Amino acid sequence: MAVHTITVEPTGQQFLCPDTKNVLVAMEYLGCDGIQVGCRNGGCGVCRVQVLAGTYTAKKMSKAHVDEADLAAGVVLSCRIFPTSDLTVRVCPKPTVEPALHPTASAGNDG
Ligand code: FES
Repeated sequence: MAVHTITVEPTGQQFLCPDTKNVLVAMEYLGCDGIQVGCRNGGCGVCRVQVLAGTYTAKKMSKAHVDEADLAAGVVLSCRIFPTSDLTVRVCPKPTVEPALHPTASAGNDG
């Protein structure tokens, strides 16, 4: 078992996380600022972080919570990743889903 240092930006808060534990467990245990804890199993999406540096292994993540664009930007569910090196992360809550605000297209002038 290896133990890695997780650094949380922008606060610079650091904590240790063994490679056998997911990052959320370590963040929660250490009282990391800003992280939200939900299902702890990839089902709710509240624990999103953006990995700014370092490597990790990841369990399957629902595209409902982390889509391709998120993955490309390094956004993952902290409860689903296990560090394989020191990591730098930023807490990245799921954007609030807003109701559709698209007015129906006007067919033209009414008068
Ligand atoms: S805590 Fe629910 S997805 Fe991570």
